[in-house]
Amino acid sequence: MDCHFSSLFLIASLFLLFLYGAARVFYSIWWRPKQLEKHLKMQGISGTPYRPLIADMKEFVKLISEAWSKPMNLNHQIVSRVDPFTLKNVNTYGKISMCWNGTTPRLIVKNPELMKEILSNKQGHFGKPYLNPLILILTKGITTLEGEDWSRRRRTLNPAFHLEKLKEMLPVFSTSCNQMIEQWKRKPGPQGTFVLDIWPEFQRLSADVISKAAFGSSYEEGKRIFELLKELMTLVIEAMQTLYIPGFRFVPTKKNLRRKKLDKEIRSMVRNLIESKEDSMIVGEGKVDNLLGILLQANKENNNYHMTMEEVIEECKQFYLAGQETTSSLLTWTVIVLAMHPDWQEKARLEILEICKGEEPDFEALAHFKIINMITMEVLRLYPPAIAHYQHAYKETRIGHISLPAGVDVTLPTLLIHHDPELWGNDAEEFRPERFSEGVSRASKSSLAFFPFGWGPRTCIGQNFALIEAKIALAKILQNFSFKLSPSYIHAPYTVMTLQPQHGAEIEFNRI
Ligand code: HEM
Repeated sequence: MDCHFSSLFLIASLFLLFLYGAARVFYSIWWRPKQLEKHLKMQGISGTPYRPLIADMKEFVKLISEAWSKPMNLNHQIVSRVDPFTLKNVNTYGKISMCWNGTTPRLIVKNPELMKEILSNKQGHFGKPYLNPLILILTKGITTLEGEDWSRRRRTLNPAFHLEKLKEMLPVFSTSCNQMIEQWKRKPGPQGTFVLDIWPEFQRLSADVISKAAFGSSYEEGKRIFELLKELMTLVIEAMQTLYIPGFRFVPTKKNLRRKKLDKEIRSMVRNLIESKEDSMIVGEGKVDNLLGILLQANKENNNYHMTMEEVIEECKQFYLAGQETTSSLLTWTVIVLAMHPDWQEKARLEILEICKGEEPDFEALAHFKIINMITMEVLRLYPPAIAHYQHAYKETRIGHISLPAGVDVTLPTLLIHHDPELWGNDAEEFRPERFSEGVSRASKSSLAFFPFGWGPRTCIGQNFALIEAKIALAKILQNFSFKLSPSYIHAPYTVMTLQPQHGAEIEFNRI
């Protein structure tokens, strides 16, 4: 009897457990998404219908595969190739529309005024969307922090990027650029003509610059760390492109083991580097003219907030991850676009010759560049290295007249806003640097329509760093070479984290 009773009890318990599990699954894959959808739809926001499990993934992959399977014409109408899914959504459902990221509704906001409200995040209700844990293998630096943790970290990092500090780092930028130019000059080719794929060239340059700027005299070790980080990044991107299975990253597959080994090696190399820097600072040898030194110095001087060794390590990795591909993307598209527009290439060269008079571009010269500045802004508009921003509403909030329930993702489609004729005029998809001749705020109908470095409190901390590097490199290239697209160049912008040339960027250079 007793035995019979315990079996019944066990079956009932299992049944209840099953019911509870089924209710949880029903709630998270059907009830909650449908409630959130209803909340948005009632406000007139429409979008793709909710499909449990596959969501919009199938359509997204189909559109991207089609778009990326063929090159495009040689023009700047790149939106339909680079981000066909968001474009289709906006064209079908409107500037404020909805799509699905798994079980999470995602609001696409193609409106600069609303974008400002979201990025200014006055009530602190928005934050970065939940991160795939794989990303945290790459970095746990400032980009992954929120709230008070983020603001203390940002205050500690800010001084390292002040213009005064960057001015002291100028020789670093110059040395790296000069080395690249000297190598190019030695390239064999008839009558000083040679063809180069500039994408890997600029990747090497920006890795070199960040390594020198971050680690000073220890930059060789820094470069090795970055090489390992790059391998780690490739493995992480690969893993993110496959179906995410919670916990799978702990299974000892060959790739998981390699990721773990790389992570360990990188940490230990950065730790050694920091320790030797700290030691040299104690004995007064270490100059504080690099990001790591500045960070350690700020750490020493600030009694209220101290970054641990692990945190300093994470920030060093972060500089590389946030700054290397973005800056090489900017430089690559600038040279491609100037190769497409020889008239602007010549105008830029004349400006440099006039301002630098054959000398090295210094800080003073950079401040006087006007044409170069306009060109850089126009390239950042047409080819923004980061094509969108992603946020998540962690608490119920309002943007404009929209009531946003907690649990909704938000996409701010930078690329689409930068190409919008309603904001930039009918020539929005043309390269016209003169639109920036009276500054950024006068270039479009809304002063918020241009935000390649983000906007608000979390705007890019390294934007001056990137712009100085890009302008110095460009000035030196223009001083030494004229260039045009090689016949083998294929115009095919696409995104792997940043906006990149899918088939490389072959450019024909001529010594001048
Ligand atoms: C052309 C080059 C660059 C572009 C287009 C760019 C773009 C951006 C954007 C759009 C954000 C905001 C991301 C968001 O809100 O989700 C950002 C943040 C950030 N960038 Fe850059 N970036 C560039 C270069 C750099 C460089 C060279 C560094 C460092 C050496 C850097 C370090 C950072 C950091 C640390 C953040 C996070 C700031 C925070 O969360 O408070 N970036 N960048």
